[in-house]
Amino acid sequence: MSKHSTQTLAQLVQPDRVHRTLYTDPAIFALEMERIFERTWIYVGHESQVRNPGDFVATRIGTKPVLLTRHGDGRIHVLHNQCAHRGAQVVADASGNAQEFRCCYHGWSYHTDGRIKNIPLRHGYSQRLDVNDPKLAMVQVPRVQSYRGFVFASLVADGPSLADFLGYIATSLDDMVDRAPDGEIEVAGGSFKHVYHGNWKLYLENLLDVAHPLFVHQSSIEAAKVQDDSVPSDGSGEIAIRQMRQNGASYGFFESQVGIWAYPNGHGYMGDYHDDAKLVAAMNDPVFREYREALEVKKGAAEAKRILEVKRWNTNIYPNVSFMSQFQQFRVVHPIAVDKTVVYTYQFRLKGAPDRIFRHAIAFANVVNGTGSLVLTDDLETYNRIGTGMGSAGAEWIQIGRGLDTDVPDAHHGRRGKNSTSEIYLRNMYDAWLGYMTKGGRGLAAAAE
Ligand code: FES
Ligand SMILES: [Fe+2]
Repeated sequence: MSKHSTQTLAQLVQPDRVHRTLYTDPAIFALEMERIFERTWIYVGHESQVRNPGDFVATRIGTKPVLLTRHGDGRIHVLHNQCAHRGAQVVADASGNAQEFRCCYHGWSYHTDGRIKNIPLRHGYSQRLDVNDPKLAMVQVPRVQSYRGFVFASLVADGPSLADFLGYIATSLDDMVDRAPDGEIEVAGGSFKHVYHGNWKLYLENLLDVAHPLFVHQSSIEAAKVQDDSVPSDGSGEIAIRQMRQNGASYGFFESQVGIWAYPNGHGYMGDYHDDAKLVAAMNDPVFREYREALEVKKGAAEAKRILEVKRWNTNIYPNVSFMSQFQQFRVVHPIAVDKTVVYTYQFRLKGAPDRIFRHAIAFANVVNGTGSLVLTDDLETYNRIGTGMGSAGAEWIQIGRGLDTDVPDAHHGRRGKNSTSEIYLRNMYDAWLGYMTKGGRGLAAAAE
């Protein structure tokens, strides 16, 4: 039994501070896996990754290995990646296409929807072995739902629908897809994987942290400032340089021009950091003009304008996704241990857009958000330092109170920071955390009902 009761957990989250153990205690990590990751909706992949029958992608729900598969009848399933015989992981590849899944140990094989296909030496087993028992299979995860191609799964059979879980933050997923002239996006171009020695929550926290770039990214800001803009390029490098320079904007800009929004269930987004006019179109980039024209042809001028004027930067869908629609980048958080986290970054291609738009997105990822990039590496160092710092016997409480007295309601059942450097996104994630951990519930959403 856990040493943490509902009461003791509730005491660890206060309006303006949380206890350090939330980032360091393995018992709390184990409870988070059970009460958050194994109860709510978790993003497991995109339909384009399993386009054809037999396609599969290995991923995790919390620390539990699962497979996203497409069966012969076209349906998508999420299967526990465990053999029903003696427990071996059945599929060791990260992705691929298969007619069947065969266990490496004694050769039991499974259909791509998880049902048993063949048991070698079947006659030797007891007659009580019922091959039609759904538990004698690669067991299906009970709930799998897609929203516009994004597949989420839940390990529990009952609970809020995916639509309820997402609420207003679904509009950020709309923003990802709407930007494709053909109305469809697909995962393309491989993925980045990075590991850091810190808690999983740090990643989501940092992606909405408006107050950190000026310090954390100082070296790339300085490097970008001295770049010579007159040197010809294909445009992709310029986008990254503009981003790095933008990180060096004054605090006046960060406090007043950027927006930070928080919604039920821990979701939130940072907006107005850039818009297409500042980041791409203002460069008079012919590729962007071509893209905008393609969008106008397919969607009409008014709708294309509306789509391109959405100014969201990073969106978090708590607890395992952060993404950026302007550069079609999706990052999936895999908690490994209380002090170890792996993040996979995927790139999407906008169908119907010029190829060079995708190349710009890849260049942006390489320079800004890639494993060897000039920007992400700063953030990784920070996560590692937080992991190390919290291992000391310093301050017991972590401060999350910035903006607490000035946050204002938002029209869509959320709240926003009046000052953009408000830590409302942290309080909001902890509101959801508390709901999941102590009430089996849904934080703000439960409170609003
Ligand atoms: S453990 Fe899989 S066949 Fe024996
Ligand atoms: Fe950063």
